[in-house]
Amino acid sequence: MVAALDIQVTKVERSKLSEINLDNLPFGKYFTDHMLEAEYENGKWTNVEIKPYQPLLLDPSLAAIHYGQSIFEGIKAYKDAAGNAFIFRPYDNLKRFNLSALRMNMPEVPEEIFIEGMRRLIEVDKEWIPGKKEHSLYIRPFMFATDCMLGVRPSTTYKFLIILSPTGPYFPRPMKIRVEEKYTRAVKGGVGFAKNAGNYGGSLLAATEAQAEGYDQVLWTDAVEHKWLQEVGMMNVFFVLKDKVVTPSLEDGTILNGVTRNSVITVLKDMGADVEERPVHVNEIVAAHKTGELKEVFGTGTAATIAYVETLAYGKYEMNFSEKDWELSTEVKRRLTAIRDKELPDTNNWLFNI
Ligand code: COI
Repeated sequence: MVAALDIQVTKVERSKLSEINLDNLPFGKYFTDHMLEAEYENGKWTNVEIKPYQPLLLDPSLAAIHYGQSIFEGIKAYKDAAGNAFIFRPYDNLKRFNLSALRMNMPEVPEEIFIEGMRRLIEVDKEWIPGKKEHSLYIRPFMFATDCMLGVRPSTTYKFLIILSPTGPYFPRPMKIRVEEKYTRAVKGGVGFAKNAGNYGGSLLAATEAQAEGYDQVLWTDAVEHKWLQEVGMMNVFFVLKDKVVTPSLEDGTILNGVTRNSVITVLKDMGADVEERPVHVNEIVAAHKTGELKEVFGTGTAATIAYVETLAYGKYEMNFSEKDWELSTEVKRRLTAIRDKELPDTNNWLFNI
């Protein structure tokens, strides 16, 4: 239980919910009636408010726009068959959010604002949680610098907001990805592990070029050799080999510590799989494909959940997979969904009741 939060709530006069079909939703396009906003000034958080979803009025010299102190999270809320709403692993996102804040020289957001504010906001908008399979209420907490100045220094004021988006699947079909050998997403000592806006802005050109070549996303590699695999677009990546599952380790700080990545590793281990978190070299994957030992490749992320990979290309060498190959990924997805649907026990306390 967190401390009682002094929070002002102003509700909309008329909900927009009836204008939206909750059974047919693209990712991240529609937003609920309310949002949470809090301000940081003089070293503390104040003015925590839930209010009608609305545009922000921003000064053109806003520090976040010029120098990129801007971080976010992605979390999902669901409702069970009885209509009870719950959030999936919000404390893990709080932890990661505050690690991102630390790296970007921003203040931490306390649990009573992040978790309790989120809980109260969802309580207000809980009718917006879709019930359909593969649908959820996507929660987007974010923080940005609000000092108005052009000098390069950490801002002294910030805004923290939470917005909610009823949402369908991010990738409605299996993905085609290719190993990126020109651009770099992250280096040791950099900001790769942080969920800061710039990591996503910096990835767009590579993805656009890959899309022009017929792929959906790139698989990022290290900056020096372009051989050590990191993550895909906005997902962590897993390779199912004959007798084990491997995924790039978090050790060098270049990839995101995905909450879904961690859930998948836990479920795989519960299933008795041998999971290795370690550096993964592209040659190992290509060699395993050539001997038939590479069985499946899949991505994991909050937005994407589990994304099947149909094609992984390394230069001109293409590794192709189809529905009949996605055995382990389908079973992991089934188990994760069953935990969320409360058909399997929540032994790890991942479900946080609203
Ligand atoms: C998420 O999986 O929540 C992400 O952050 C991906 C997002 C950029 C769409």
